[in-house]
Amino acid sequence: MDHFEYRDGVLHAEDVALSAIAERFGTPCYVYSAATIRRHYRVFDEALAGIDHDICYAVKANGNLGVLGLLADLGSGFDIVSVGELERVITAGGDPARVVFSGVGKRVDEIERALEVGIACFNVESEAELERIDAVAQRMGVRAPISLRVNPDVDAQTHPYIATGLKENKFGVDITRAETLYARAAGMEGLAIRGVDCHIGSQLTQLAPFRDAVERVLALIDRLADQGIAIQHLDVGGGLGIRYRDEQPPSPAAYAENIRDLVAGRDLKLVFEPGRVLVGNAGVLLTRVEVLKPGAEDADKHFAIVDAAMNDLLRPALYDGWHAIVPVAEASDTVSRTWEIVGPICETGDFLGHDRDLALQTGDLLAVRTAGAYGFAMASSYNARPRPAEVMVDGDAVHEVRARETVADLMRGEQRLPFA
Ligand code: LLP
Repeated sequence: MDHFEYRDGVLHAEDVALSAIAERFGTPCYVYSAATIRRHYRVFDEALAGIDHDICYAVKANGNLGVLGLLADLGSGFDIVSVGELERVITAGGDPARVVFSGVGKRVDEIERALEVGIACFNVESEAELERIDAVAQRMGVRAPISLRVNPDVDAQTHPYIATGLKENKFGVDITRAETLYARAAGMEGLAIRGVDCHIGSQLTQLAPFRDAVERVLALIDRLADQGIAIQHLDVGGGLGIRYRDEQPPSPAAYAENIRDLVAGRDLKLVFEPGRVLVGNAGVLLTRVEVLKPGAEDADKHFAIVDAAMNDLLRPALYDGWHAIVPVAEASDTVSRTWEIVGPICETGDFLGHDRDLALQTGDLLAVRTAGAYGFAMASSYNARPRPAEVMVDGDAVHEVRARETVADLMRGEQRLPFA
């Protein structure tokens, strides 16, 4: 469910016509729906009713201050992977004490800052990192709360670039080594063991891998208890998939039911790190058709060159990600044909969609759907293209939550050398 709907033939974000947003803020432009984010957060939270839980939104999916602030107001915690994301959370009004810090390569300065603001937990991904966090914490005279991210070796059945729970992935520590590492951590003065963490991948559409992972991690928690190591929380990561095209992802309710019996009766808090499922379909990328270009006669390809490109939305180029591309104004009389929807960047991989049936004219506005997660977050300024504006709609109110970058922004901090 989202709040992007046609009204009188024009696609709206809640009560605002996307054509009016394009007029006011230009294109390309990301548009988010506050009501959609609120709804997804509530549905996810309500699905977990009866399970002691904390939701730590994965900031990497969309770290816009407007989005983070909205989620903080809803009561969300946050999953971060860098000090940059931590500062964003703090600036947006998020509570550092509800922050978990994931990632395989945390730097000393990042660990220091996280300890200074008092985050909830470090999700530690290697023995070397345990030692590093211990040393920093001891130097600062504090104990760092930690979980070990274990790799349960389950196949998440998703795109290989976003599967993370297999032995051969760089993430986490092998579950068979975890007990030894926990025993080591228990003896480190600068650490306080809090939890066990896992995250097996993203855009998961099957429930079985989640259940397998939780079963394996619960067995580990029992073995740790036998050794006298008490675990307070199990962080199951994020990864619940959404529908881009014809996927049938489980609902948050089904996702919760899948593991409810496994954790029932245990004195264990569950931490969730959802990203995509909270914000994915709460955003669209608005773009305008610049040029229509027939391809070579025998190639039977026709190109619609739009003003958004792979630098604005990388998912199609990087993962062959499929996003629906729809007209902002429903065409009544024009005949549709099949188009390659491409950007102006000098790469063959610069496309937003292949073989799309659309009735197009130069100047038409298009909305690339389901672009709220890993959209702007992965945008770059490749080809010296300033990153797009981001706008949040809330009912009939429109807020620019990030101004369009300027070419001057792109050159900030650079200089031409004064060669004699
Ligand atoms: N927790 C950890 C430790 C993660 O690595 C991730 C995502 C999440 C939580 C959130 O996962 P989600 O609920 O959003 O699936 N750029 C890719 C997705 C990369 C996901 C990386 N990790 C894409 O556009 O599909």
